[in-house]
Amino acid sequence: MALLFVLFILHSLSIYVNGCNTTYTATSGNITSPNYPDPYDTNLYCTYELYSPTGEVVELYVDFVDLECCVHIHQCDYIQIYNGSSADKNQRLREFCVNTRVNFSSEKLFIVFISDIQSGNKGFSMHYSRKMNNSLSRVNNQRKENK
Ligand SMILES: *[C@@H]1O[C@H](CO)[C@@H](O)[C@H](O)[C@H]1NC(C)=O
Ligand SMILES: *[C@@H]1O[C@H](CO)[C@@H](O)[C@H](O)[C@H]1NC(C)=O
Ligand SMILES: *[C@@H]1O[C@H](CO)[C@@H](O)[C@H](O)[C@H]1NC(C)=O
Ligand SMILES: *[C@@H]1O[C@H](CO)[C@@H](O)[C@H](O)[C@H]1NC(C)=O
Ligand SMILES: *[C@@H]1O[C@H](CO)[C@@H](O)[C@H](O)[C@H]1NC(C)=O
Repeated sequence: MALLFVLFILHSLSIYVNGCNTTYTATSGNITSPNYPDPYDTNLYCTYELYSPTGEVVELYVDFVDLECCVHIHQCDYIQIYNGSSADKNQRLREFCVNTRVNFSSEKLFIVFISDIQSGNKGFSMHYSRKMNNSLSRVNNQRKENK
């Protein structure tokens, strides 16, 4: 029983260190693959959930991708971006494994990172930030009205 508990703690700790399966709710931050820029582990299924607790739109920017990428994308390592808080196939925005600079914006975003039995690549680096509610454009509009 005690051994199980210790194993459980170690398991939780490894998840934490790994950064796999994390929810991000800060105003802005970075999201990287486990161990980045050192090679990520094999056989990963990592999910990253992003949303603003105050309801603003979150913008996600993909900065760097180095994955073991195959022509048949599902045979090797890849990233999926979903609109929402789960891997709902109908809400998939994009799926990729090549180095691509794209951005996404929604109130909720869900990232899935999958690796196969081989490793050696660096992984990915992304950053996100909240798109502030229209206060700025509201101010600008008011200025226009005041003219
Ligand atoms: C995110 O990464 C950038 C550069 O890669 C760094 O300057 C910044 O401090 C990082 N932000 C956080 C919250 O770690
Ligand atoms: C992350 O969550 C998935 C289920 O969504 C699970 O299969 C996987 O083992 C988890 N990864 C880690 C490192 O905890
Ligand atoms: C920002 O806008 C969203 C949707 O328009 C709203 O639900 C949310 O409460 C707003 N947040 C703040 C802090 O005003
Ligand atoms: C995300 O889903 C919401 C509704 O669930 C929709 O209003 C919004 O347009 C979608 N955004 C994208 C980028 O598909
Ligand atoms: C986000 O990507 C779109 C194209 O999908 C582009 O038009 C827009 O300028 C980008 N926004 C930023 C802030 O990079």
